[in-house]
Amino acid sequence: MAEGDAELEARLAEQEAFEPSDDFVAQANVTDEGIYEEFEENWPECWDRAGDLLDWDSEYTQTLDDSNPPFYKWFSDGTLNASYNCIDRHIENGEKNRVAIKWEGELGDTRTYTYQDLYREVNEFAAALRDLGVEEDDVVTLYMPMVPELPIAMLACARLGAPHSVVFAGFSAEALATRMQSADSEYLVTCDGYYRRGDALDHLEKANEGLESVDHDTETVVVDRLGDAGHGHSLTENQYDYDELVAEQSGNRIEPVERGAEDMLFLMYTSGTTGQPKGVKHTTGGYLAYAAWTAHSVLDIEKEDTYWCAADIGWITGHSYIVYGPLALGTTTVMYEGTPDYPERDRLWELIEKYSVDIFYTAPTAIRAFMKWGSKFPESRDLSSLRLLGTVGEPINPRAWKWYYKHIGDEDCPVVDTWWQTETGGMMITTLPGIGTMKPGSAGPPLPGIDANIVDTNGEKVEAGRAGYLTVNKPWPGMLRTLYKNDERFINEYWAEYSDLDSDDADDWVYFPEDGAKIDDDDYITILGRVDDVINVSGHRLGTMEIESAIVGVEGVAEAAVVGGNHDVKGEAVYAYVILEDGYEGSDEMSQRIVEGVEDGIGPIARPEQVIFTPELPKTRSGKIMRRLLEEIANGEEELGDTTTLRNPEIVADIQQKVQK
Ligand code: WTA
Repeated sequence: MAEGDAELEARLAEQEAFEPSDDFVAQANVTDEGIYEEFEENWPECWDRAGDLLDWDSEYTQTLDDSNPPFYKWFSDGTLNASYNCIDRHIENGEKNRVAIKWEGELGDTRTYTYQDLYREVNEFAAALRDLGVEEDDVVTLYMPMVPELPIAMLACARLGAPHSVVFAGFSAEALATRMQSADSEYLVTCDGYYRRGDALDHLEKANEGLESVDHDTETVVVDRLGDAGHGHSLTENQYDYDELVAEQSGNRIEPVERGAEDMLFLMYTSGTTGQPKGVKHTTGGYLAYAAWTAHSVLDIEKEDTYWCAADIGWITGHSYIVYGPLALGTTTVMYEGTPDYPERDRLWELIEKYSVDIFYTAPTAIRAFMKWGSKFPESRDLSSLRLLGTVGEPINPRAWKWYYKHIGDEDCPVVDTWWQTETGGMMITTLPGIGTMKPGSAGPPLPGIDANIVDTNGEKVEAGRAGYLTVNKPWPGMLRTLYKNDERFINEYWAEYSDLDSDDADDWVYFPEDGAKIDDDDYITILGRVDDVINVSGHRLGTMEIESAIVGVEGVAEAAVVGGNHDVKGEAVYAYVILEDGYEGSDEMSQRIVEGVEDGIGPIARPEQVIFTPELPKTRSGKIMRRLLEEIANGEEELGDTTTLRNPEIVADIQQKVQK
């Protein structure tokens, strides 16, 4: 290195804009700056570029049907099958021996599936599911960790036209039960267990416990991940062993079911303002086209690449950018079971070296942890295969961005900071790596064809440099279509704020993602975070109301208020302010019971960082808990905002004292 390290750090610290290298641009999938204008002028037909990435059984003739906003339809008279698009067509194109999935277990065991292998197993498992009774439009719940059988089950469902509903394996039994109940899901695919930091976790026990609270009859398929290290559960009457089912169907093939573009591909539950998770509905045509298009244009995926998104498939990032986007493009997607620090803190870099990964996509929370661990871990590995880096899930501060750019990308890989949500299906705001100047901390401009704006509470656009609310004015193919069986909540949650609800003119409908944002002169957007009661813990989206209701379920708790406080690695951490019933004491044991209550109700990811017992919560005269104040207290701020509207201002100092900083 010509420059000394300190010199280099100093230069990087000051640099505000970065350009992709000529080498990157020369090979990038999208390099023509005119694409923004082209999409604008040719809207909505510009989206045929996304539709054209798929193979249709019957071609669509209408790109967008916006006659009944906000119930938009994309490519609606086209038909297709997602499993065919992610598997069969690549084989027909001579790619049967290309690796589709490279899986690595936490202990270092590996499995490789070519597209032909994937074809075989997806067909056999689809045949097994059909024999179990799964029909088109039945919702199949997949409660599985990062094992290859998860994407296989997703694609098997897609082949049958049965929407899947994946429940993150880290969620609790209760969370599983609520989701199965809500979706009337009669089928579950789960797993005996998986490895976490060397321990063989018992997953089936949680699944079984969840099933006990499901009112209707269910059939369950269990994947054997642990073998002899398993926990010795025997399968009950309505439970089947995955391997046996697949073996019985050996050689069987299932014709991909022809689905309408607007038919549901999957359901994904996510957190919102109320205690009840929202069942976000995504479609076969629009979603898949959008996932493929953004994977092509933003992640710059080519089929020859080895691509790795280090998210969990249990979240939308994994759906769109481990499974559907990459496989639709026919590339090699890497899946890793474990954590980044097991057995050592260089585990991810070890895998990048081992598999010569070209493109790597992760969350800022992981990058903050890597920074903390130090650059010696990536430095001990050869990361020169990397061409592009990406982040998703939460704001990335410029320091972390630059660390990632320098220590992982060797100042040679563009970094795309991609803003999007479960509801948007795919990326919405980010630079295009072959075109745009990157500015650390700012996600970038809206993608071509995406009409995102920053507005004030009246819906007027704010001036450059001012903060406001992020809104999206025009529909896009990957958008959610509704909340499962709840059109009314769909309108209330996403459209009511800024739309004219009586209008049937699409121009009067505005999507509100519930994020705050700021816009620069050059239309770059900096995301400021959620403006509703959703918090973002290690890139995981959690509803404070869900956590509160889990806490209130603990014996002895009278009331609870949960907020997110700043955390240097997790981004936000859960702070729980709790009022106990008379006769109960704010002891360590009580605190522990509350933590367990949250783990049982939601999962360990929602575990409170601190439980603060208080005789009262700060409330306004109208009786509303002043959460802003509780956030400031959690952040250890000395100067608190306006407390004059409180009816019990004296409680503030008392609570402040109890928060450990
Ligand atoms: C946040 C994850 C800043 C945002 C794909 C959004 C981000 C929520 C970014 C959605 C980013 C996601 N910069 N914030 N690049 N990406 N977010 O549904 O608050 O799990 O509303 O989808 O994550 O979380 P979700």
